Amino acid sequence: MEKQLQLAIFDLDGVIVDTAKYHFLAWKRLADELGIHFTERDNERLKGVSRMRSLEIILEIGGKQKTAAEKQELANRKNTWYVEYIMQMDASEILPGVLPFLQELKDNNIKIALGSASKNAPTILNRLGIAAFFDAIVDGNLVTKAKPDPEVFTLGAELLGIAPEAAVVFEDAQAGIEAALRAGMKAIGVGSPGILQNAHHVIPGFESFDLAQMLKVLGL
Ligand code: BG6
Ligand code: MG
Repeated sequence: MEKQLQLAIFDLDGVIVDTAKYHFLAWKRLADELGIHFTERDNERLKGVSRMRSLEIILEIGGKQKTAAEKQELANRKNTWYVEYIMQMDASEILPGVLPFLQELKDNNIKIALGSASKNAPTILNRLGIAAFFDAIVDGNLVTKAKPDPEVFTLGAELLGIAPEAAVVFEDAQAGIEAALRAGMKAIGVGSPGILQNAHHVIPGFESFDLAQMLKVLGL
């Protein structure tokens, strides 16, 4: 078994923790200042998308043009507000079932990596008190190519010297599922099967999910 599956890679936002609500509050505040009508439905389009691309989508919604320097300032402003929210987070915000699953992987010598687009990932992991679970952390500070490019996942496996075929990725965004498949890894969607097409399997969350089930659904 260990040979077949040696590494589990987790996306952060939407898989380990629901930060979309904080991203929304911060983007909404910025959109309000810019006079752009931005809804929770629009916010769905920003999941898994980088900070700058998220800003560009909001500017497109509002039909606004900005220079590169202005965009940088706006992205920084949003991030300052977002960081204020995440600094208030604690372990109670870890999504149900995540902690026992991480512990079970660790107890069974399966390596654990993070594969996230967020530059705030280290702050969030520290706030949640789970940084020590991760053998490798690959985040928006390390990678340049956004999902669905596989870089964020291949780098994690490379850092740990594990072949892609021996890795499974947990993702809540379609672009992330695609990135995992392009990396040659197994992909388990976290969310709704209607949205996360092509994944090897989709779970609604980690409650009542365990290692035995994971191996079973992956046919291992
Ligand atoms: C992704 C989120 O994980 O990280 C996106 O799903 C977010 O919504 C992106 O824009 C970048 O995050 P950050 O923290 O670097 O602004
Ligand atoms: Mg996500």
